[in-house]
Parts: sequence; structure tokens; C-alpha cells
Amino acid sequence: MKNKMATAALAGLALVAAGVWAQEAKTVSSGKDLYTKKCGSCHGKLGEGVPKMATMLKTTIRDLRKISVNADTLTAWKKITVEGKKKMPAFKTKLSAAEIDSSLAHMQLLAKTSAKEAKPAATDSAADAKAVEKK
Ligand code: HEC
Repeated sequence: MKNKMATAALAGLALVAAGVWAQEAKTVSSGKDLYTKKCGSCHGKLGEGVPKMATMLKTTIRDLRKISVNADTLTAWKKITVEGKKKMPAFKTKLSAAEIDSSLAHMQLLAKTSAKEAKPAATDSAADAKAVEKK
């Protein structure tokens, strides 16, 4: 039973590595839905953090828009989301590895550094490429 689950988890990871990053635009939209459903109640639609939830949980939820994201941040975020941290629930039994990755991909878009750079790159450049093709 345990082994089966571990195999499934590994298969999930392999899928993520192969598919998610290659199809960034798609990931971002489903990541947004996941984020809104699973994370937004505490972290807020824009990543601002919901004060009411923070008060209820007797903790602080940081404003993600003020966090600069780098590779280390992403590693830490993934660990926190999988394993949980204090009042932050662990998602390893609630979401698949792929779902965790795509909700984090959306979270990354809300954060400070990537908000401006990553979003247009995923959507506009494809549209631009098409526009150029037509001309
Ligand atoms: C029940 C409320 C709640 C939900 C739902 C929730 N979180 Fe959190 N999250 C928290 C709290 C509280 C913290 C702060 C933990 C701490 O450091 O004390 C946090 C922290 C984090 C952090 C670290 C951010 C930082 O401060 O650097 C990440 C990343 C994160 N959450 C991701 C997610 C993701 C992804 C989801 C949805 C899949 C999610 N959270 C859903 C409450 C929540």
C-alpha cells in the first residue's frame, strides 16, 4: 500500500518535471484556480494575506506581494506547502505533487519579483508570435 502510493507520487513528480514547465501558460491558469480554491481563503486573491484568517489562526500571514522570490524561496515554499509550517496546513495528502507545483507557480506570479516579468512572458509572447506570423 505504502509502496504503491510512493510509486504514484514519483510518477506524479516525473509528470510535473516533463509537462508543467513546458506548458507554462496552461499551468498558470489551472494554478490560478487551484490557488483561488485551496490557498486564497488565507493568502488572499492577490497574495495579500487575509487579516480575518490571520486573526482567527492567531498568526500573521505575510503579504506575498512584498516577497522577492528566488530559487531558494521556491524550495522553501515547496517544503512549507508539502509539509506545512505552524498554522499553514500540509498539503501532501490534499493535493497531488502537480497541483502543489501549479498552485505555487501561481503564487510566484503574485510575489514581488516575478509579478511583472513572468506573467506577460507566458501569455503575451505567444500572442505576439502569432501576430507576427500573420503579418
Ligand atoms: C488555513 C489557512 C491557510 C491555507 C488554506 C493556506 N495557507 Fe499557506 N500559510 C498559512 C499561514 C498561517 C502561513 C504562515 C506560516 C508561518 O510561517 O507561521 C502560511 C505560509 C505559506 C507559505 C510561506 C510564505 C512565507 O511567509 O514565506 C507558503 C509558500 C504557503 N503558505 C503556500 C500555500 C499554498 C500553496 C496554499 C494552497 C495550496 C496555502 N498556502 C494555503 C495559512 C494558510
